[in-house]
Amino acid sequence: MPTPSHADHLEELRRKVDKRLAELAVQVAGRDAGLSDAIASALTSGGKRLRPLLTAVVCEDLGGPLAPAIDAGCAAEMVHTASLILDDLPCMDDAQMRRGQPTTHRAFGEDTAILAAIALLAGAFSILSTLRGTDAVTRNELARILSGAVGTCGLVGGQFRDLRGGAGAEGADPEAVNALKTGALIGASVAMGAAIARADTMRKRALADFAEHLGQAFQLYDDLLDSSGDPLVIGKDIGKDAAKSTFLRQEGATGTQVRLNHHLDAAHATLESVFGRDCRMSSALDGVFQGQPALIVRKRRVEGVSLS
Ligand code: IPE
Ligand code: IPE
Ligand code: MG
Ligand code: MG
Ligand code: MG
Repeated sequence: MPTPSHADHLEELRRKVDKRLAELAVQVAGRDAGLSDAIASALTSGGKRLRPLLTAVVCEDLGGPLAPAIDAGCAAEMVHTASLILDDLPCMDDAQMRRGQPTTHRAFGEDTAILAAIALLAGAFSILSTLRGTDAVTRNELARILSGAVGTCGLVGGQFRDLRGGAGAEGADPEAVNALKTGALIGASVAMGAAIARADTMRKRALADFAEHLGQAFQLYDDLLDSSGDPLVIGKDIGKDAAKSTFLRQEGATGTQVRLNHHLDAAHATLESVFGRDCRMSSALDGVFQGQPALIVRKRRVEGVSLS
């Protein structure tokens, strides 16, 4: 049988993640019709599944076990989904569409949306505390990693700065905001894969560097999509962050793309230092930044995957 290409393997992993998320959604969603529908719909309505794929692929590339990595990745996806529900609320970005559907608060009401987000956060930590195929020390480590990405040194702190640091706000630092609101959870997803695979300290450090660059690149790309993406393709509103203190506002589209490519190059170089030239993570990384022809993101060619 031919060895499946990295792209086929990623697709297979994505299917596994989606299947497991659907199972876990039933556990988290509870029995109250309105609330459980909101939770299940937010969690299973698509999305790139970047965070669980990061956990799974990093763990696999390090020779670790897949099943606990998929579950820990699903926990990260629950945190991510909760953050999207909250981010879309009228008091935050006031968004109408998410993943091609009406936002959770539009479909189910603001009160239900907030409760659904809290249930997803609680569900994420419940998954980690009962993670199959890991010992108690690893489960503790995973809870430490993920909780760090949620709190004031992660998503919550980043969202606060994002909302308060309007254009021209004194001391606005887009790099720090991006690191907190987006990079922290991406970093946690990578770190959980490394923890499950019991990576050594040197590799964990290198992977943390990789995730920092990926987090920056990802938010820069997302900001470019916010200004020039097609809402029908990206499935969400555009223009919601036009008044925010982003690099895009400070440096324009060309400057932002230069920055993005710098972070992508650095991310690839760091990966190469850990895994060598041809690893699944490297092709997964390129896959994330394809698909919007309006954006000039440098493409690479990794063995087995056509990226043009
Ligand atoms: C959107 O994340 C929010 C950011 C951190 C930029 P994604 O672009 O990963 O959203 P989904 O999961 O694919 O919907
Ligand atoms: C991304 O912020 C960080 C989050 C925690 C959601 P954005 O506000 O740019 O995300 P989108 O563009 O609405 O997905
Ligand atoms: Mg936002
Ligand atoms: Mg938003
Ligand atoms: Mg955005």
